[in-house]
Amino acid sequence: FEQPDSVVNTMRGRLLPSGQVVLGGIKEYLPDIKRCRRLIMVACGTSFHSAIACRQILEELSELPVVVELASDFLDRETPIFRDDVCLFISQSGETADTLMALRYCKPRGALTIGVTNTVGSSICRESHCGIHINAGPEIGVASTKAYTSQILSLLMFALTLSDDRISMGTRREEIIDALNNLPNLIREVLQLDEKVHEIAKQIYKEKSLLIMGRGFNFATCLEGALKIKELSYMHCEGIMSGELKHGPLAMVDEFLSICMVICNDNVYKKSLNALQQVVARKGSPIIIADKSVPENDLAGMKHILRVPKTVDCVQNILTVIPLQLLSYHIAELNGANVDRPRNLAKSVTVE
Ligand code: F6R
Repeated sequence: FEQPDSVVNTMRGRLLPSGQVVLGGIKEYLPDIKRCRRLIMVACGTSFHSAIACRQILEELSELPVVVELASDFLDRETPIFRDDVCLFISQSGETADTLMALRYCKPRGALTIGVTNTVGSSICRESHCGIHINAGPEIGVASTKAYTSQILSLLMFALTLSDDRISMGTRREEIIDALNNLPNLIREVLQLDEKVHEIAKQIYKEKSLLIMGRGFNFATCLEGALKIKELSYMHCEGIMSGELKHGPLAMVDEFLSICMVICNDNVYKKSLNALQQVVARKGSPIIIADKSVPENDLAGMKHILRVPKTVDCVQNILTVIPLQLLSYHIAELNGANVDRPRNLAKSVTVE
């Protein structure tokens, strides 16, 4: 519920009325960053999902190869790193051991390192060459929520700074900046879905399992929503790339399995509808998270539809994840779990 304000804090002083985006912490390094051959984002958990959420827009606006890595796997593989790589280490706490070790692995290999953290003075903040502070404010609950949306915003602003001298991208940049300026209002609107989400939670909180399906810009929402539900309510929940449905997961679908599908009117809309038809043909009855521009007819017969406002494709995933954050909260509460202190987590910063 703090997200209408935390996103403002993340953007404050950075989106200028002139249409320029200024990230003070990396300004001096920008010419070097623009000259790089590859962008690598390294993170764990929720922070990793924010990297997935922004990979596509970073590829589009930087026209560079963008690689996303789980810090643990990145280290296990002893991944080759070069002097002309730019590596971003995304971490709310700035202390997560694997992410920090990945930074310490990349630095002596000559890559430029950028910390994307919420904690000034943290190890990742101090040891990286430069950084972007996400300014989300202290996280009180262990499960990361506002840090996630602020990480996405920070990476979006990073993508915008990389493309500020591309005239051909002017219109695209403008539509993204307009969407960011309107974001707090749209988040307020999404939060009004809370009662409806609560009702849905009451119907599914005893289920053993939930699958969350989506693709494109909204795939990260599926992974992040599933992680929130797992860690808070201990229910089995999986985020599934709907493009992969026919390669295995469809076998699980029947009238008994709980499913949630994210369907937005973007470049993969037709494919998302196709996935919905596949699920319905196997008697699945999914909960739908859709933007308001998706025609009623395309969702005819669906029992639960959560409508979020429509915004630009690369910002939409900030709006689609919030109903799932709320859903994880309500399922956990209905099951009597403590939403602020989930069990068995090895997170670096915990609450006192
Ligand atoms: C989930 C969660 C964790 C963290 C992960 C990385 O809600 O909070 O998955 O995202 O432990 O932590 P940071 O971002 O501090 O590196």
